[in-house]
Amino acid sequence: MRVLVTGGAGYIGTHTAVSLISAGHEVEIADNLVNGKAEAVRRVEEITDTSIPLHVVELTDQEATDDLVAQGSYDGVVHFAGLKAVGESWREPLAYYENNIGCTTSLLGALARHDVKMFVFSSSATVYGANAPVPYQEDYEPLEAASPYGQTKVMIERILRDVAQADPTWRIALLRYFNPVGAHPSGRIGEDPKGIPNNLLPFIAQVAVGRREKLSIFGGDYPTADGTCERDYLHVDDLAEGHVAALDAIARRDPGVGAWNLGGGRGTSVLQMLRAFERAAGRELPHEIVERRPGDLPAFWADTTRATEQLGWTAKRTIDDTCRDTWAWQSQNPQGYPEE
Ligand code: WQD
Repeated sequence: MRVLVTGGAGYIGTHTAVSLISAGHEVEIADNLVNGKAEAVRRVEEITDTSIPLHVVELTDQEATDDLVAQGSYDGVVHFAGLKAVGESWREPLAYYENNIGCTTSLLGALARHDVKMFVFSSSATVYGANAPVPYQEDYEPLEAASPYGQTKVMIERILRDVAQADPTWRIALLRYFNPVGAHPSGRIGEDPKGIPNNLLPFIAQVAVGRREKLSIFGGDYPTADGTCERDYLHVDDLAEGHVAALDAIARRDPGVGAWNLGGGRGTSVLQMLRAFERAAGRELPHEIVERRPGDLPAFWADTTRATEQLGWTAKRTIDDTCRDTWAWQSQNPQGYPEE
């Protein structure tokens, strides 16, 4: 298939582009490069030995988006484009609603006008909110999210269900990610957050290369095995392969909307992740247990039964694989991608 990957110059987008091309699909990328990097796309071309058209575009620009879709002859879209920093969304909620919702409605309109009706959406486990029983299951209701960022995911899932209800020819996959981590084993692409990393593994990796002094562990008194929070960390290449499986599934099944958890199906604590990374880096890393971070949940992970049964997908990579690959990326690229 010819697939447009929006936000494809970003962390998950680049890894998904590699998996799509490896599975025989043709890929084009649209990205506004606010967070993504053109260099990352060049490295995907290097890894896959293919040429990937990169369209630098604001998807909130309806005319530009129409022109993009009109020229592409796409069979389907994987939609990552959007702002994704939880803390930033509290400070700038309007920017998140305007950008994340605006990108999506503009894109959907263009796709409908050009009869491109296969759509894979980058959703998040954050839509389960704080009250869902663990392990999270896809049919849980009500979907709600604490942060404005998470609310954009809840709202976009609603928009997609309403679009499919109005036009039953749409084939839509809502993929609810747990905690994406890791990097392609080549070490050429990986997670390169702007500024101070919010998320655990990129912060640990930056401590390991000496960019950060020490890891602050947010809370050591949670009701978990070692007192630190547990999360379902999923290797980004497993996640990428989940997108290929979802695209294939919606192409062959009846039209409509499906939601699938993409997770490892188990919890790993902060301390367990730190120890795994120390094994990968071959040394102990400075850390300190400090106060809890407001809003953190003690522990959650995915029920992945539906993805295994309906998509034929299961995560294969381990936490040690994740730390090995992250360390390869970060040690080869201590400052991340070069500044453009
Ligand atoms: C994991 C654990 C922290 C940093 C977030 C978003 C979620 C999704 C994935 C997009 C927690 C602890 C972290 C640090 C720490 N993103 N931690 N020290 O919060 O589970 O999920 O990223 O969809 O929407 O909320 O991931 O990596 O931030 O934190 O102790 O320096 O690591 O307290 O327990 P989280 P995280």
